[in-house]
Amino acid sequence: MKFCKLFSLPALAILCYINCWAQSVPAITLHLDQAGASVSPNLYGLMTEEINHSYDGGLYGELIRNRIFKDSKTAPEGWSFIQDDTASKASIKLIGATEERVPYDERDHAINGALSTCLRLTVEKAAGRVGVANEGYWGIPVRPSTTYKASFYIKGTARTESPRWPWEPKPTTPPLPDIENNTPGPVTVSIESNDGKTVYASGTINLGKSIYWKKYDLTLTTGADVQPTKDARFVISTNRTGLYYFNLVSLFPPTYNNRSNGNRPDLMQMLVDMKPKFLRFPGGNFLEGPLITDAFPWKTTLGPLESRPGHKGSWGYRPSDGMGLLEFLTWSEDMGAEPLLAVYAGYSLSGDHVDAGPLLKPYVDDALDEIEYVIGDTSTYWGSKRAADGHPRPFALRYIEVGNEDWFDRSNSYDGRFNQFRTAIEAKYPQLTCISTIADAQYPAIKVTSGKEPAVVDEHYYRNSWDMWEHASQYDKYDRKGPKIFVGEWATREGAPTTNLNAALGDAAWMTGMERNSDIVIMSCYAPLFVNVDTATATAPKAWQWDSDLIGYNALNSYGSPSYYVQKLFSHYLGDKIVPATVENISVQNRPLSKKDSADGIKPKTVPTIFYSATMNDTTGTIYLKVVNTIAKKQTIKINLDGAAKVSPRATIVVIKSDKPTDTNTISEPQKIVPLTSTVNGLRKTFRQSFPPYSVTVMQIQTR
Ligand code: AHR
Repeated sequence: MKFCKLFSLPALAILCYINCWAQSVPAITLHLDQAGASVSPNLYGLMTEEINHSYDGGLYGELIRNRIFKDSKTAPEGWSFIQDDTASKASIKLIGATEERVPYDERDHAINGALSTCLRLTVEKAAGRVGVANEGYWGIPVRPSTTYKASFYIKGTARTESPRWPWEPKPTTPPLPDIENNTPGPVTVSIESNDGKTVYASGTINLGKSIYWKKYDLTLTTGADVQPTKDARFVISTNRTGLYYFNLVSLFPPTYNNRSNGNRPDLMQMLVDMKPKFLRFPGGNFLEGPLITDAFPWKTTLGPLESRPGHKGSWGYRPSDGMGLLEFLTWSEDMGAEPLLAVYAGYSLSGDHVDAGPLLKPYVDDALDEIEYVIGDTSTYWGSKRAADGHPRPFALRYIEVGNEDWFDRSNSYDGRFNQFRTAIEAKYPQLTCISTIADAQYPAIKVTSGKEPAVVDEHYYRNSWDMWEHASQYDKYDRKGPKIFVGEWATREGAPTTNLNAALGDAAWMTGMERNSDIVIMSCYAPLFVNVDTATATAPKAWQWDSDLIGYNALNSYGSPSYYVQKLFSHYLGDKIVPATVENISVQNRPLSKKDSADGIKPKTVPTIFYSATMNDTTGTIYLKVVNTIAKKQTIKINLDGAAKVSPRATIVVIKSDKPTDTNTISEPQKIVPLTSTVNGLRKTFRQSFPPYSVTVMQIQTR
């Protein structure tokens, strides 16, 4: 009664409304008065392998496709014959090292074991220009005032008319034409439009009259008025009759840090901008190869290009291995990142494996050699090789991953294999930590059980955004006494070839979970990193094998997906202490059930619509609060900074957002979704902040 006398009915209704609203308003409370764990200093890194033309036709600077003619055994892929007139008589042919009986003229053209296949241009009659053209990796990029380094081996030989030995049979194919004098003469080297009408840069080499294999180098410089294009080709041509054999034909544009045999500057800059802490290489499936004999052959990826035969690869095309072990290491060095080396552990994609024991020992020894190449001093055998290759200083290395995704090995041999590798590696290099590719939480039935528990395990997650939202808090529940977690491959797979905004919202939600738990999640890297986005042409297949990648490019241009910008945002705005946080009244949404879910009787699940994490720079007192709003509605959230001694009223806000979850960046619209920076005022210990629809936000709040 007394209560009713004190408040009139309308006033009561308003009070009740305010009270109810206050209770249901979503809130994030940062407990600054509670000690948070340290953020792993290595939390965000990169994962890389040769997939989607990541290196050949991607990061690796080489512009010539199939430079040693081994991409196909039947045709000189990427190469074509050009003839400007109709009266000339000429042709090209792939000449391969083969054990089969072949015409005499098609033997003995190997330069060495690696360069054992070449391209022959036969010019019987030259009424004009004839030659060989390379189409590059979906085009040769041309830019103004740019100097390209071209090089190639060339040979001109007289035909051999008679069998070398009396007992050898006569050739079954017609002999080569009798070419007058067999004089190779001068050749012209050019970068020109695909129709040959515009020459962007050219040079001439005066060959001797009759030459044996010889390497020629020249530079080609484009004019200042050239319009950038990728519709160009590389041509070596002549106006004279002769037999011309070519091998190791190379064309390099300027590279990042001017490294010889180096990387594409625009892509390197995008990676450097991500501030990665480590680079996991060389795979992925690329480490394993389809068969045991196809595993990443690190020894034949070293030294001059003349000694690199390339190998089969794991993604349907033959890598040149121009991006070899040393190039992976210097690439890490150029980014200020530490290498995280994965060693082949005796299991390949076909399911073949080598059991632990004496048969595995050569593989363990090979890994020890590889590690010595990376960190051995120059008094060691492999350390001295590294020095001879131009890098006397050992690289900093802390982690060795033993294999890749060995949960696929249904023979359960990984336990023994991992232990054999780890025992040998840690005996020789106690400072190194071996990572198991089977994680207890993901594969409890096949985890490593013998020997001691692995210190670090690698978990891989490829999911859609619903799965990411559903599992974003999975690490909140992980056993703190278990092994540390390396999330060595993960991605929200929506959008192709690069991901869309919805994928970025899945990524960001997942990253808040890793960040909040970076006391146990010590490292993570998104995969795949790169994709050449070119589609199939008349002469080249589609460039990519895996949808939903981070950074897209063609020969000329590149762009970051929304996921790329999320990666960059999370890596840039990261403190060194986790700020304990709690939430209230976060709205949820129902995850739609698939037909199969319904048939299986699975009940609808709810997932939060807001994801968050907070870290603090302990030195400056800056808080980085990350909030992901996954729905079409703006959400206003009360932020409580519990225990903050002081709060600066002004904060910087960086937002990634767009109107539709399917929105994305492309080659033609590379900047549709990029981070936008602004400031807000009026912050106090408790304040309200709106988060736009479909957005990822970082607030930088000063507390000192
Ligand atoms: O990232 C693409 C592939 O996914 C990797 O090569 C492999 O490790 C995983 O299955």
